[in-house]
Amino acid sequence: MRGNRAKKTSDAWKIVIISITSLLIIGAIVFTVKEKQELIKPSLKPPVEEQSNENNNSTEVPAETDVQEENEDKNDEKLNENQQEQQTEQKDEPKSIEYDESGYPVTHIEPVEPTYVKGILVANKQYPLPKTYNPGESPESKAALGKMLAGAKEAGFDLTAFSGFRSYEYQTTLYTNYVNRDGKKAADRYSARPGYSEHQTGLAYDIGEKGRENLWLTSEFGETTAGKWLHQHAHEYGFILRYPQGKENITGYMYESWHFRYVGLEIAKAVYEANTTLEEYLGLK
Ligand code: DAL
Ligand code: ZN
Repeated sequence: MRGNRAKKTSDAWKIVIISITSLLIIGAIVFTVKEKQELIKPSLKPPVEEQSNENNNSTEVPAETDVQEENEDKNDEKLNENQQEQQTEQKDEPKSIEYDESGYPVTHIEPVEPTYVKGILVANKQYPLPKTYNPGESPESKAALGKMLAGAKEAGFDLTAFSGFRSYEYQTTLYTNYVNRDGKKAADRYSARPGYSEHQTGLAYDIGEKGRENLWLTSEFGETTAGKWLHQHAHEYGFILRYPQGKENITGYMYESWHFRYVGLEIAKAVYEANTTLEEYLGLK
């Protein structure tokens, strides 16, 4: 009896020891496998840079890389679009630029190309022309001017354009002379700084009456019957009075009864009938 009980106890201990040993062995195996998996994981998924290097040498490009590249391209495109939008905004939004008391940018930024708004070439204190922009007289405005002067003659007025296209260099000479004569502040009200003159577009003319040269470049010309005819009929030939009375804060220049700008029949009519300025018509002011 006693011997049987001792045997049973010893068997029970054996089972316990075997069970513990088995558990330890299983535990050790599970741990080892897990550790191995951890070691394998990084090599299954190399860093993107390594992946793309590999792919450069491979003829079969995995789909994931295609998408990555496509996304990268799209990101590049988006970045370019954003940059372009920002550049356009800067171009269209000159308000962030600081202007001096004459209305010119404190720091001149040489433009790469002329500015067109609604298809109209703009030259004013906000939108200069490149130094190299040298188109000469526009054949279209020259033809329109011829018709206008002929129309004036029929109406009994002998008008002439005493100034038309001016190069950047010629405007430099004119402006410098006016500054020397009247001082910069006064000159800035009636003479454009080089690069900022509408005469450099080849689309503007200073007009006066032959035989009354004493009234050229004066506001009195606008009070003469010839000047009044011109003011009332210029739009019929595609011209606008560019710097009207009382609009200096908008155009940047004092009233010039003599300065006409060719913009084409449609816009000239619209500007005339609305009694407005080119800046307002184009939404620049
Ligand atoms: N007189 C105009 C403003 C010019 O010089 O262009
Ligand atoms: Zn002029």
